[in-house]
Order: sequence, then structure tokens, then C-alpha cells
Amino acid sequence: MVVELVATAVWAMLPAYVPNNAAVLFGGGRPIDGGRTMGDRRMLGDGKTWRGTAAGWGAGIVLAVVLNQLVEPASDALGIALPEFPLAAALALPLGAMLGDIGASFLKRRTGRERGAMFPGVDQLDFVVGALLLALLAAPGWFGETFTTGVLVVVLVLTPVLHVTTNGIAYALGLKDEPW
Ligand code: CTP
Ligand code: MG
Repeated sequence: MVVELVATAVWAMLPAYVPNNAAVLFGGGRPIDGGRTMGDRRMLGDGKTWRGTAAGWGAGIVLAVVLNQLVEPASDALGIALPEFPLAAALALPLGAMLGDIGASFLKRRTGRERGAMFPGVDQLDFVVGALLLALLAAPGWFGETFTTGVLVVVLVLTPVLHVTTNGIAYALGLKDEPW
């Protein structure tokens, strides 16, 4: 039962988890805000770039397509009916993750936090909230079937743990400037 919830939560959220990491690996270049400021601070900052956002979105879409190829054997092996991603969900989960992260940077700048500053809670859940909201809008039927209350609880508990772990690894490997 718990195994089923965790397996479903991780499988369904993988296309939302990978974009952040792809953005760190492939990001850089022109910032989305084009250097514009709001008040005396940057709108988003140099940490949100077009290339990173596109790479993150693309990586999430590719992963969803790959997972769809693997869903039958994986479900058989685990004895669990893992979710398949309809196109709308394959597009919405990673785009929502990127938009959530961008929204968090907007909030960070408005609250006086410089690029790279920590924002506990927001850093760990911004992309989850963005991904879930956009998936709910884009594929409401699929969302309701996949994200049952139990799965949602697992997502909200497990994501911060996974996020802290992967970012810690990325920091240790020198890929990221801060461990959050
Ligand atoms: N990145 C990017 N485009 C995005 C998200 C991330 O290019 N949409 C890249 C940037 O190189 C960024 C790095 O991934 O510096 C780490 O991402 P993140 O921690 O989200 O950005 P920060 O630099 O910490 O900036 P912020 O304080 O705005 O979160
Ligand atoms: Mg950061």
C-alpha cells in the first residue's frame, strides 16, 4: 500500500523533478528578465535563463515519453499500475515545475533575497506546486485519477527530501553554487 503510493508518486512526478536539474546543467546565457529591474531589484535575476528553462522543459517532456515506453514492463515487475502520461500532462508537469521555480525567484527578489539566497520551504516546493497546478489545469481527469489524496501526501513529504538530497549531490559535484 505505502509502496504503491510511493512508486506512483515518484513515477508521476519524475517529469517535474528532472527539469530543475537539467536547468542547472544546461542553464546560462540570456536571463528571462533581460536585466530588467522592479524597484531597485532585478525582476527575476540572472539565475533564470531562457536556455535553462527550455532545457528543463524539454528534458521533462523527453523523460515522460521514455517513461511511457517503460510503463508496462515496470508496472508488471512491481505489480502496481503505474500512471501513463497523456501529452497534456507530459507538457504541463515540466513546464509547471519551471514556472513554479521562476515564480519563486520573483518572490525571492521582491522579499529582498539576492540570487542564490535560501528561502526554506519555497525552494523545496515551488516546482511541485507549479507542476501540480499546471497538470491539474491541463489534464484534470488524469490528475484526479493519478494524484489521489495518499499520493499527494507522499509527494509533499518526499519531494523536499529528494530535492535536498539531489541539490546536495549537485553542490558536492561542483555543479551548483549553493546546496539548496
Ligand atoms: N537555471 C536556469 N534557468 C532556470 C532555472 C535555473 O538557467 N529557469 C540555472 C541557473 O544557472 C541557476 C542554476 O540553474 O543559477 C540554479 O538554479 P536555482 O537555484 O533555481 O537559481 P539561483 O541561481 O539560486 O537563483 P534564485 O535565487 O533566483 O533561485
Ligand atoms: Mg537557488
